Amino acid sequence: MKITKAEFVTSAVAPDHYPIHELPEVALAGRSNVGKSSFINKICQRKALARTSSKPGKTQTLNFFNINDEIMFVDVPGYGYAKVSKTEREKWGVMMEQYLTSQSALRGVVLLVDIRHEPSGDDVTMYNFLKHYEIPVIVVATKLDKIKKAQRQKHEAAVKRKLQFESTDRFVAFSAETAEGKDEAWKAIYDLLTQ
Ligand code: GTP
Ligand code: MG
Repeated sequence: MKITKAEFVTSAVAPDHYPIHELPEVALAGRSNVGKSSFINKICQRKALARTSSKPGKTQTLNFFNINDEIMFVDVPGYGYAKVSKTEREKWGVMMEQYLTSQSALRGVVLLVDIRHEPSGDDVTMYNFLKHYEIPVIVVATKLDKIKKAQRQKHEAAVKRKLQFESTDRFVAFSAETAEGKDEAWKAIYDLLTQ
């Protein structure tokens, strides 16, 4: 897909700050530091559209990005960062639940997991939460560049097993370093929009 426009629209922490627009929304989800913001940048061919960091907890608000006047990507803060206080965790929970359950424009969620590791309990909870609310999900197993080619199948199988991945969902192995999986990710996103 040719990206002719990729623009930050606004940040929000509560529904009264969500932008008013006509575009279908696709949100990111996943642990802190898994690579959600990097995923947006890579598939939009922009270096720093979404802010990234080697330290977890970089993204703190819902950040809306207009892509080609076709899709609104919503970058979100990650979960599972140990240093976050209980109050912060609760705030995060309220913000995410409000967003995921109140957004009529939301067409699906890209759930990122790290292909190197078995998904965490939080990853499983998030996958089940999305299933519960019947929100279409694309599982993107990222940091593919960090494992050997010969290990890919084994890791993919381990991710799917732990999530109890449903074969009707889409699975894409991806790397924000090499762009591997980029076209497949776009295809899966387009499929969500035309479902
Ligand atoms: P939060 O905003 O804290 O929730 O994190 P995030 O999920 O948005 O992660 P972010 O995109 O900021 O990336 C975290 C770190 O992982 C950065 O140092 C990235 O460069 C690195 N990273 C992300 N994707 C990949 C990848 O596919 N391969 C490699 N090698 N590094 C990656
Ligand atoms: Mg981020």
